Amino acid sequence: MAIIALVSAKGSPGVTTTALACALSWHRRVVLAECDPAGGSILAGYLGGALDGPRGLGELAVGELRDGNLDTAFWSQLVDLDAPRRERLLLPGVVDPAQAGSVIPLWQRFADFFTGLERGDPPYDVIVDCGRLHVVGTPWPLLRAASVVLVVTRAQLPDLSGTRAMLKTLERDFAEHRVEPGTLRLLLVGDGHGKGEISKALQLPVIARLPHDPRTAGVLSLGGTVRAGRPLLRAARELEVPVGALLDRRRARLAWPVSQGVPDAL
Ligand SMILES: Nc1ncnc2c1ncn2[C@@H]1O[C@H](COP(=O)(O)OP(=O)(O)OP(=O)(O)O)[C@@H](O)[C@H]1O
Ligand SMILES: [Mg+2]
Repeated sequence: MAIIALVSAKGSPGVTTTALACALSWHRRVVLAECDPAGGSILAGYLGGALDGPRGLGELAVGELRDGNLDTAFWSQLVDLDAPRRERLLLPGVVDPAQAGSVIPLWQRFADFFTGLERGDPPYDVIVDCGRLHVVGTPWPLLRAASVVLVVTRAQLPDLSGTRAMLKTLERDFAEHRVEPGTLRLLLVGDGHGKGEISKALQLPVIARLPHDPRTAGVLSLGGTVRAGRPLLRAARELEVPVGALLDRRRARLAWPVSQGVPDAL
């Protein structure tokens, strides 16, 4: 179980849609945390605004700053996407921009808490929508704490040039903060340049390409009934395989005694 962060450079490539598609199709228990400082959109979009009162990250942050009650308040701020099973849970993002001010100083606290969830009983994967990298209040501590960081990008040239610049920023920050290497991967959305070509140009492996599936994406963005067999959901479910393989390699690296050096295969 792990923290899997999704982030983009610019141009709304589909971070939120992809994160939601994964949360709805993941085999393991999962919390989807909308930590985009620019605001969450799943409550108003996919869930059609259906909720009795304010709930989510903003409320949690206010409570934590006032009473230090994150550990006890967390579970009551979640929305069950697959009620009543509590296997696919959503932590809605901030809606009121005024709440972002309370959330931003707590990114490290949330990162530590999410790290605990992956080791909880039962354990949960945490998929984190980190939004765009260069906005004010980027959740850096969450990106640094993640076991896998998926950089979501469209595969057309203008998107790729923005993504290339952003990768440099991420790599510099991770080196400065001694983040375990190998957590970063590209995740392509829609048609465009080939995987091999992009991976070579950006010098980063492509973990997968999600299909252009406007019908499913429309439901995930605006609400409606989503079918498990749709291409986007199938691809999101299949993404769990390379993500799992990456996590296994990372665990093997971390378990390998430093004195023996790490084999190339890891
Ligand atoms: N795989 C896809 N196929 C077709 N359309 C998609 C796909 N993924 C996302 N979209 C569409 O692209 C638009 C942007 O998606 P989304 O809001 O998920 O992007 P984002 O990266 O989270 O944007 P922002 O940075 O503004 O939060 C939406 O209209 C969504 O329906
Ligand atoms: Mg988004």
